[in-house]
Amino acid sequence: MLKHRGAKAPIGGGAGVCRCPHHSESVEVGANNHLSLSKVGAPTECSHLFCFYVKQKSWEPPPTISYFIAIINKHQSQVMEVPKMQPRKITLDEKEMPTAYYNILADLPRPLDPPLHPGTGKPIGPEDLSAIFPPELIKQEVSRERYIEIPDEVQNAYRLYRPTPLIRAFNLERALDTSAEIYYKYEGVSPAGSHKPNTAIAQAYYNKQAGIKRLTTETGAGQWGSALSLACNLFGLECKVYMVRVSYEQKPYRRSMIQAWGATVVPSPSPDTSVGRRILEKNPDSPGSLGIAISEAVEDAVSREDTNYSLGSVLNHVLLHQTVIGQEAMKQLEKVDAYPGIVIGCVGGGSNFGGIALPFVRDKILSGGGSVNGKNLRIIAVEPASCPSLTKGEFRYDFGDTAQMTPLLPMHTLGHTFMPPSIHAGGLRYHGMAPIVSRLYLDGLIEAQAYKQLEVFEAAVLFARTEGIIPAPESAHAIKAVIEEAKRSKEEGEKKVILFNLSGHGHFDMAAYDAYFAGKLEDYEMPREAVKKALEEIKTYPIPA
Ligand SMILES: Cc1ncc(COP(=O)(O)O)c(C=O)c1O
Repeated sequence: MLKHRGAKAPIGGGAGVCRCPHHSESVEVGANNHLSLSKVGAPTECSHLFCFYVKQKSWEPPPTISYFIAIINKHQSQVMEVPKMQPRKITLDEKEMPTAYYNILADLPRPLDPPLHPGTGKPIGPEDLSAIFPPELIKQEVSRERYIEIPDEVQNAYRLYRPTPLIRAFNLERALDTSAEIYYKYEGVSPAGSHKPNTAIAQAYYNKQAGIKRLTTETGAGQWGSALSLACNLFGLECKVYMVRVSYEQKPYRRSMIQAWGATVVPSPSPDTSVGRRILEKNPDSPGSLGIAISEAVEDAVSREDTNYSLGSVLNHVLLHQTVIGQEAMKQLEKVDAYPGIVIGCVGGGSNFGGIALPFVRDKILSGGGSVNGKNLRIIAVEPASCPSLTKGEFRYDFGDTAQMTPLLPMHTLGHTFMPPSIHAGGLRYHGMAPIVSRLYLDGLIEAQAYKQLEVFEAAVLFARTEGIIPAPESAHAIKAVIEEAKRSKEEGEKKVILFNLSGHGHFDMAAYDAYFAGKLEDYEMPREAVKKALEEIKTYPIPA
């Protein structure tokens, strides 16, 4: 039995009446399931997307993304149709930009456990951090003030690319034939191509203000390194980037971008630090990891008076700076009278997810933890199955880096010795998770999902062919989750509003797309046994209360 999506009654026996949403009158469906359109004077064969289902004799949307890709290849012009009177892009005026960061520490139901000094095992104080961070950032790390003003100089620099657009993904919705409304906040419009400058600019500013002349950092995929290079250039600071060796080799143009804004970039492990030399002695071909690169950048900063260290994710002050994303998105949704039922972001260290999600988490906390305005609000963090810190890691104290130079942080971790496989979403290859995100997950305020590399790239291609933007592989994890939720929304017959953060474009990730199209990418799922083994190494570390 066939049932047309728009039909009130099932169409049986291969013939019947189709109330196709593209035709003002009912039209008869012939025995061969082609439309007999003589009654409405339309062409003899309807070419609309929904009628495609009639011709296929299939009324349930098939589950695979490649099926949707096949449909849009065949019916591109309908997928691209713009509904009249509805804006595709929802923009804000520069005057409507947030003037303060939102600090979730003011609203958490349970406060975070403090970072611990690795030597004493006692909570660290501001003086322990002053060797690598300026006073204002240390203050922000522990502040309980709900809103922290954004300095004029930082707002001025943000205006290079903020406010970023919120875009209704009409084309993707149509391709999925979903009842859900999908909106994405596009952070790829920043000069560096991702959300990372939101904190890079703030961190460069506060360091400059404190009299610092030079910043060091690590970078995985190259997004953070390029963002910090851009920000240091804006505020006249020197910058040195330790870039994970696999990415340094896979992404020569990210490297050039870092250089274009004036920073120095070296592959990590490097011979420039004692940590790097030690690792190279043991394994000259080490592919590197974010944990190693962090150790190198911290060692460099500690060894020079004029130099501080800058981290692109994980820490409270980084997530704080990123809340401009969620605050803007909230205002933009208000303009179309919408509020999300689902908020989605990918997670590496947790900063872009925190950025879009935290202002909505606040609504959830204030309304008692479940629904907001009487409607259920789900907030989903999406990670790679190959580096599943939330879905398979454990919540405990662990180092943020491989060489154990950072304080011990309370977080979901795979163990700081964990060497993630060389997947092509380099920005998500981190063993730990932001303490804020970890705490929200523990308290049931957010959910987590993990996806494999191939299904993520499939989702990225569908997005590129519908919405036009080629997403960063990291961001494509969020897209995959959005597609799954949109399909579920249709199955459940609900009209969900889904908001997600498109954290960056993938213009410098074309080697990864190349490998995908050539069939050279492989899936890798971290087995529980491997996680157990990595966690063995930190089993004596304290467990947060
Ligand atoms: C485009 C993009 N999205 C997401 C991430 C993950 O980082 P975070 O979890 O801090 O947002 C990265 C990291 O480099 C990235 O480049």
